[in-house]
Amino acid sequence: MVVANGLTIPEATPDSRSAERPTLPRHAVSLRTWRRSDYESVWARADWMLRQPREIVARSAPGMLLGVLFYQNSTRTRLSFEAAARRIGGSTIGFSDVTTTRAGDFYRESLEDTVRVVGSYADLLVLRHTEDTAAERAAAVSQVPVISAGTGDREHPTQAMLDLWVLHSKLGQLKGVTLGYAGDPTCRHARSLIHGLAAFGAAGIVFLAPDGALVPDDVQRTIRDTGMSMETAGSAAELLRKVDAVSMIPFELSDFHETAVHTHTRSHRLDERFVFNSALLGRTGTGVPVVHTGPRGPELPPETDDLANVHYFEGVAKGVILRSALLAELFSSRRIR
Ligand code: CP
Repeated sequence: MVVANGLTIPEATPDSRSAERPTLPRHAVSLRTWRRSDYESVWARADWMLRQPREIVARSAPGMLLGVLFYQNSTRTRLSFEAAARRIGGSTIGFSDVTTTRAGDFYRESLEDTVRVVGSYADLLVLRHTEDTAAERAAAVSQVPVISAGTGDREHPTQAMLDLWVLHSKLGQLKGVTLGYAGDPTCRHARSLIHGLAAFGAAGIVFLAPDGALVPDDVQRTIRDTGMSMETAGSAAELLRKVDAVSMIPFELSDFHETAVHTHTRSHRLDERFVFNSALLGRTGTGVPVVHTGPRGPELPPETDDLANVHYFEGVAKGVILRSALLAELFSSRRIR
């Protein structure tokens, strides 16, 4: 029990420094370089934050300024990062509509220059972008840590960290787990998630993909190279019989290379084989934890929201905690300019 600034702190802040590597990777742009101990550092701090009153969490990164550079639409990722920055004692600057900046008008200011300009004001940057290599390009020139909030169709590291954290908490471990991946496997989330599964020694992955969607070659290669097994299922019922947990994404994706897609209307109809309804989850999938990246569609109807093993909105809420922990970790290990 510690008393600091008039507040009683019931537990010590978790020691996030492992012997294996003293700090997290400087940037969080790809999970390819993340080790098991890196996830565990962030999750330990997130678990600690879950148990603390808000006023204690608010002392995690006092004065931190997060630069929010969103070149593409978002609900969950941007707003949870903004909430996270405030929850840990910091604040934000940035944009969610690039047309209000010099990158989105006559000047077409480059990504590199925009990153260097906002990085001159902020302690950390979070970037969502339409181009596959945007996060790497930003990290290459940035004075401060860069976090990818989803770039092109490459990676979405923090969503994968979040989904794996939730599943780890439900299953007790990820080693030896067979994960069902339901939805379009060309999603950027899949690329990040598979790196995380490999870091924990998962046994394999079973895909349930919309008709005609193929698992991209590079994703298959990563699965093969890391010794995991790969299978496909033809229906939600078959998938649920084969796996320990399910990670879901939409079956109908927007174009990750566009800022926003307004011209295409989602069908909101989905072949019954792909729908995880409450009857099926109750019959076959009871006890199989299910997470979903959002935005959820007909594949996970609202009737499932109250099922004990469906953790969609729990994941949404925990996104703030996970991102709070990541920001606090990166902020505490930043290099002083
Ligand atoms: N999961 C996710 O990336 O959602 P948003 O597009 O709303 O940020």
